[in-house]
Amino acid sequence: VGDDRPIVEPLAPLELAPAAIAIQRGPELRWELANREYRRLLGGVALVGQTLAEVLPDWSQLRRIVEQVAATGETFVARGQRFLIDPEGNHDLRDAWFDVLCQPLRDEAGQVIGVFSFAVDVSTQVETHGRLEKAVAEARRAIEARDDFLSVASHELKTPLTALRLQVQSLLRSLRRPTDEQPPREQLEKRLEAIDRQVDRLVELIEALLDVSRLSNEHFVANVEELDLAVLAQVIADRQHPGATPVSSPLTVEAPEPVRGHWDRSRVDQIITNLVSNAVKYGGGKPIVLSVVAGNDGAQVTVADQGIGIAASDHGRIFERFERAVPRTHYSGLGLGLWISRRIAEALGGRLTVESELGHGARFTLWLPA
Ligand SMILES: Nc1ncnc2c1ncn2[C@@H]1O[C@H](COP(=O)(O)OP(=O)(O)OP(=O)(O)O)[C@@H](O)[C@H]1O
Ligand SMILES: [Mg+2]
Repeated sequence: VGDDRPIVEPLAPLELAPAAIAIQRGPELRWELANREYRRLLGGVALVGQTLAEVLPDWSQLRRIVEQVAATGETFVARGQRFLIDPEGNHDLRDAWFDVLCQPLRDEAGQVIGVFSFAVDVSTQVETHGRLEKAVAEARRAIEARDDFLSVASHELKTPLTALRLQVQSLLRSLRRPTDEQPPREQLEKRLEAIDRQVDRLVELIEALLDVSRLSNEHFVANVEELDLAVLAQVIADRQHPGATPVSSPLTVEAPEPVRGHWDRSRVDQIITNLVSNAVKYGGGKPIVLSVVAGNDGAQVTVADQGIGIAASDHGRIFERFERAVPRTHYSGLGLGLWISRRIAEALGGRLTVESELGHGARFTLWLPA
């Protein structure tokens, strides 16, 4: 190595080696050997005879490493080192990962007189590994979400079912008593109404569960018809006060004018109903306002309550599947209503947003295009 003549003979077979190999020498780190793979990574230009600074810009990672090895005399070894390479030779740089060895070459006196580089492209492995890790993490998340979902869903379904069973059994017992001991007709009717409400709740839950798979599968067909949102809002509000239930929240509709357009009635109904039922559930019994206004390019439906509110940090999360911002011991629910509602709103070309502060009520706005 002390001699200045170019090394050719014993190194010639390295030309075709499946690794990038180079030798640079002298204070300017002039290439003395650069095999095919090495040249390919630098854009396929001829390198032998050129200096490091002539070929590589000073931000180049490879240049920095080589200069550092020459300056310090310390070997550089790295696995999965990232470089920008120019494989097509058109300055269209792309990321690549290498296992690298960069070693000083010394003369007999121990002075560094050059640098030997050896690098193996491990991009495919690094990329495959990255993709695998991502896929594993996603699968793990999906499994966790499904497990959570199954336990929440079965719990949610079981509660109304258990109540339902008790009610039906007690009704049967009453009916099996002798005629003169049977409860009066109005009482039976009340109990049947309670049963009917439980059945409604169950149907709603099952619908929500079915919506998860329907909406996840991207198959969404809107059934557009002519519709007055002001009328629909009133219908939904009236539905909240079925004869027997105690009125938990006074709900007012503010829709002074008809808001006509073409929308999917049952889907819009579903969104507003979800928002209203949330306002009732989380509204602390205080007044709720459901308002409908027409705009130039669409309609806006707002449901505002004065209940527990939602912390700003939860505003994004509550629209995700199964995400809730309240303890399940206090409020029952699957955490699906808002996810379903937003998916539908977007599928209809609209938007669903929230404004709220913890402790200061919540205001959900549904915007639908004209
Ligand atoms: N009006 C509101 N006031 C306060 N918090 C709300 C309101 N609406 C929604 N939230 C919060 O957002 C979360 C998600 O609401 P979402 O309707 O998706 O689920 P849920 O009501 O918990 O269950 P369900 O699937 O039965 O509707 C709720 O758990 C609650 O923390
Ligand atoms: Mg809800």
